[in-house]
Amino acid sequence: MEEMGHYNVGFGLDGKGVGESDPEVAELLKRELDRQSSTLQLIASENFTSPAVLAAMGSVLTNKYAEGYPRRRYYGGNTVVDEIEELARQRACALFGAEHANVQPHSGANANLAAYMALLEPGDTVLAMRLDQGGHLTHGSPVSITGKTYRFVSYGVNPITEMIDLDQVADLARAEHPKLIVAGATSYPRVIDPRPFREIADEVGAFLMFDAAHPAGLIAGGVHPNPVGLADVVTFTTHKTLRGPRGGAILCRAELAKAVDSAVFPGLQGGPLEHVIAAKAVAFGEASKPDFREYARQVLVNTSYLAQSLAEEGFRLVSGGTENHLMLLDLRSFNADLTGKQAQEALDLAGITCNRNQIPGDPRSPFVTSGLRIGTAAETTAGMKETEMAQIARVISRVLAHPEDRDVLLEVREEVKQLCAKFPPYPTDSPLPGIGQAVSKSLED
Ligand SMILES: Cc1ncc(COP(=O)(O)O)c(C=O)c1O
Repeated sequence: MEEMGHYNVGFGLDGKGVGESDPEVAELLKRELDRQSSTLQLIASENFTSPAVLAAMGSVLTNKYAEGYPRRRYYGGNTVVDEIEELARQRACALFGAEHANVQPHSGANANLAAYMALLEPGDTVLAMRLDQGGHLTHGSPVSITGKTYRFVSYGVNPITEMIDLDQVADLARAEHPKLIVAGATSYPRVIDPRPFREIADEVGAFLMFDAAHPAGLIAGGVHPNPVGLADVVTFTTHKTLRGPRGGAILCRAELAKAVDSAVFPGLQGGPLEHVIAAKAVAFGEASKPDFREYARQVLVNTSYLAQSLAEEGFRLVSGGTENHLMLLDLRSFNADLTGKQAQEALDLAGITCNRNQIPGDPRSPFVTSGLRIGTAAETTAGMKETEMAQIARVISRVLAHPEDRDVLLEVREEVKQLCAKFPPYPTDSPLPGIGQAVSKSLED
């Protein structure tokens, strides 16, 4: 059993189990755990999964081939896997109130591509958000297969309010007759209300897809409007605010289930990652608990508190605020010469991890940018609240006031380390649970 203990501990938590046979990889896992535990994780699309989610991902399910869907597989030996995938589908449907769920997409990009394949023919017109104003690569970038396969037309934000310009969406929909309208974004700090998009889609006879990659956890936690029932198809990632394993999923009405399922497999993917699907099931279970509603509420509180504190330090907030888990800072109001690239690099040296981002109408290129995107989903999971948000605003401001002063960067790095030590995402002094224990504990809580 001693051996089994080591084996379990190695399931993604600290590399000890891997270390039994591969010290080189184990050392790298350990270093990454240290990095995630001792620096601030403010990338808006990241989170810390529970030990149960990690354990399910590190399970024997990775050994199983299961092409097809529950009770319709191409290989034998899928009795248990069928139950796992069915459970994940049922939990996803229950969590979001959907008629059908496909939990196989390996990523958010695959989920989007599958949704397009289910609804469109190559060359069809799609209306989606512009990339430089918040949209995602899979919303028609010319370098993405999506932009190469379909004819994308883009809407953006109102230049004054920096919020989605619904009049422009309606005008473009009337002029271009898209077969599909996509709502959803990757760097947009506001609520995206599915209702006006549904009205516009109905007026022009288009399908509506809601890409909930970012707000999925906020929707599940009841603090953002649920697009299920309004959008024909809802795609999302399971690893951002939803706090599950890295992956994607699709929700739709029963009548679209066959088209969506065949688009994912055999249309786009081969064998599903059943270990990840088990981890998705665990995450859906966790997200259905009252604790998760509290988490989603605290994410909004923390983000708005951090945004307000940064505004007081002199940073302009794109759109004047935030209503979700992220904010976009316009650095020019703080220092006209400071670029997003310099800011990201200085913050990285000081132990604060976030990403540069273009802001609407940015005169600088996507590699340089005038903005920073900051999110609170991960550190809220670690337990940080308003007091810590105030401290984070102070350290960000201090670094960006002295981005080239190594002494300041080292001092802040030490302060950040001390702060993070109080909120370890995976406490190392507590016994690390094995697979069964971790999963059943998370379901009991
Ligand atoms: C809006 C949106 N859609 C899709 C994706 C793609 O997700 P993935 O990185 O899992 O492919 C992202 C990821 O950032 C996103 O923000």
